[in-house]
Amino acid sequence: MSAPSKLVSVDEAQLSRKKNGLQIEGLCLQLEGMPILQDIGLALTQMGVTTLIGPSGAGKSSLLQCLNGLQSHWQGEIRLKGNDIRHWPGGWDGLRRHIGLIGQKPCVFPCSIRANVVFGLQSWRQRRRADELVEATLKQVALWDEVKERLDAPAESLSLGQQQRLCIARALVVKPGMLLLDEPTASLDPRSKQLIEQSIKALAETMPVLCVTHDLDQARRLGGQIVFMCEGRVIEQGESEGFFAQPQRLESREFLRWSVCECD
Ligand SMILES: Nc1ncnc2c1ncn2[C@@H]1O[C@H](COP(=O)(O)OP(=O)(O)OP(=O)(O)O)[C@@H](O)[C@H]1O
Ligand SMILES: [Mg+2]
Repeated sequence: MSAPSKLVSVDEAQLSRKKNGLQIEGLCLQLEGMPILQDIGLALTQMGVTTLIGPSGAGKSSLLQCLNGLQSHWQGEIRLKGNDIRHWPGGWDGLRRHIGLIGQKPCVFPCSIRANVVFGLQSWRQRRRADELVEATLKQVALWDEVKERLDAPAESLSLGQQQRLCIARALVVKPGMLLLDEPTASLDPRSKQLIEQSIKALAETMPVLCVTHDLDQARRLGGQIVFMCEGRVIEQGESEGFFAQPQRLESREFLRWSVCECD
């Protein structure tokens, strides 16, 4: 009779992983009277990569903006670790420290590489450990070896790929609970793309990572879960491998074939 109790405990473990992750229910967003997101439902477990794909204008960036409070006029439920993000400790600023958002274009601050990394550190205790944190965080994004001899050089002197890794480091140093990446490698060379994909996979072992991409090969490489959106709705979601091998919806099949979607 041990098998049934084992099954129950696996279910409970899955439920608890989901509860500790991110849950979105009935999320709707209107901008200038236009429906941008319609009844979005998603659940991300407490760690792992989820890739968000879909045609231009599908609402991918808008969804990320709702998740870290850049858009706040949405309806529905967004819960992180069981807590309603509208009542997050420290308000929207506290939420943004907890959920890092990296955009398509690297946005470094006009100061040194080191100052960029430590920018978000608030307490004196953390600042005392700044050198240690700078090294550890730059190693996490595979940038340390390239910049360790010039930490006081202006961040703008880095290549675009290096700047993007620096932006990820800046988001990581404040120990976020989740990372959102909006086409993080869209304008980067293949080597930088590869380094960032490796960092995403490593980070996803410790937190949920939601990554938007138009690069279907990248979505395949990242693995994990996939969410396909079109016209503000989630059309299909599931395991990445299964989605690419056997998409369930006609719209998904057309999108994988032609990179366009003919949703009504
Ligand atoms: N501030 C705004 N006011 C009105 N409409 C907006 C605003 N921001 C975005 N939209 C509209 O919302 C829709 C979704 O935009 P969004 O940027 O989320 O799409 P996306 O899936 O990220 O597209 P892309 O792949 O091109 O980045 C688009 O039709 C866009 O024009
Ligand atoms: Mg976008």
